Amino acid sequence: MRILVLGGAGFMGSNFVRYLVKRYDGVEVYVYDKLTYAGRLENLADVMDSIRFTRGDIADERLLERVVREFQPDVMVNFAAETHVDRSINEPAPFIKTNVLGTFVTLEVARRLEVPLYVYISTDEVYGDLHGVEGAAGEDWPLNPSSPYSASKAAADMLVRAYGRTYGLRYRVVRPCNNYGPYQHPEKLVPRTIVRLLKGRPATVYGDGSQVRDWLYVEDFAEALDAVIRRGGDYEVYNVCAGSYASVREVVEAIVKIMGRDPGRDIVHVRGRPGEDRRYAMTCEKVRALGWRPRVGLLEGLERTVEWYRLNEWWWRPLLDRYVLADEPWGAGP
Ligand SMILES: NC(=O)c1ccc[n+]([C@@H]2O[C@H](COP(=O)([O-])OP(=O)(O)OC[C@H]3O[C@@H](n4cnc5c(N)ncnc54)[C@H](O)[C@@H]3O)[C@@H](O)[C@H]2O)c1
Repeated sequence: MRILVLGGAGFMGSNFVRYLVKRYDGVEVYVYDKLTYAGRLENLADVMDSIRFTRGDIADERLLERVVREFQPDVMVNFAAETHVDRSINEPAPFIKTNVLGTFVTLEVARRLEVPLYVYISTDEVYGDLHGVEGAAGEDWPLNPSSPYSASKAAADMLVRAYGRTYGLRYRVVRPCNNYGPYQHPEKLVPRTIVRLLKGRPATVYGDGSQVRDWLYVEDFAEALDAVIRRGGDYEVYNVCAGSYASVREVVEAIVKIMGRDPGRDIVHVRGRPGEDRRYAMTCEKVRALGWRPRVGLLEGLERTVEWYRLNEWWWRPLLDRYVLADEPWGAGP
């Protein structure tokens, strides 16, 4: 199988690539990535000899087309996106350019060159805030995004499905919950908390920290995506959740305790993010029917992640910008 991974040098993409290379002999992997601040070859260093790589923007139609013509993928998986909600509050334009227009370009290339299967990595955030709502979102739940980030992801998610219906492009859409684990940029909650504590700064909690998320270890996500590609159905959407619900405050407290610090002293509460969703929740019977189960519980996953960041300061030290170090990163310009 030949898999073209768009955005494969980021957090989830690189973990998926590593999983493929270690798990299968016969899979050929090609990574196409713009290498923004979030994408780095360091994320792929241990598998670089086993893959092919081109630096490129998904919105660059000519370059992407050349790569697809040359590589002839069986599957195109699109992870490429601007992903940080704090940044989308400060500067939404790159989110629309990459997540909406960029995804549109990938669909045009896939349609024209008749790529056999297109897989889009969407997000649970497209369902919007489920606070005060009974139950959890199934795949048919209406999309109701809240932030510029989630609105751009919902737009792309809808475009993918429209290309299936209008042009017959074979697709599968995957909507994962919050992922965490090695190689995640320290602007995101779990590594941000770990790295700040390692640098002697307090952990921060946005608002009262009661926002509930479902936490999935990134290696479990790689297995879920593999199951969707190998055993999933065409023109189908798959929620991928862990069923490990915990509030942001609980996750930060757990990390503080794993690191032997004092939750009473080492956590500060700062202003809540404007418009932040209070609760995400999805049902996941469809992906479980493919034989997939998450293997790593939240506490074990957090312990493994803390250990990885402890051992890999070389990896995160160059990434300490204000989105990591400022207590309230939004609102001070790009
Ligand atoms: N991390 C999560 O918890 C989570 C949860 C649900 C869904 N998602 C989705 O999964 C995907 C991957 O998320 P992540 O956390 O790995 O993100 P990330 O920010 O770590 O990586 C994004 C990657 O996309 C690349 N990229 C950005 N713009 C590009 C462009 N114009 N052309 C080519 N490459 C470009 C970056 O260089 C980077 O390698 C995203 O689509 C995101 O919306 C993430």
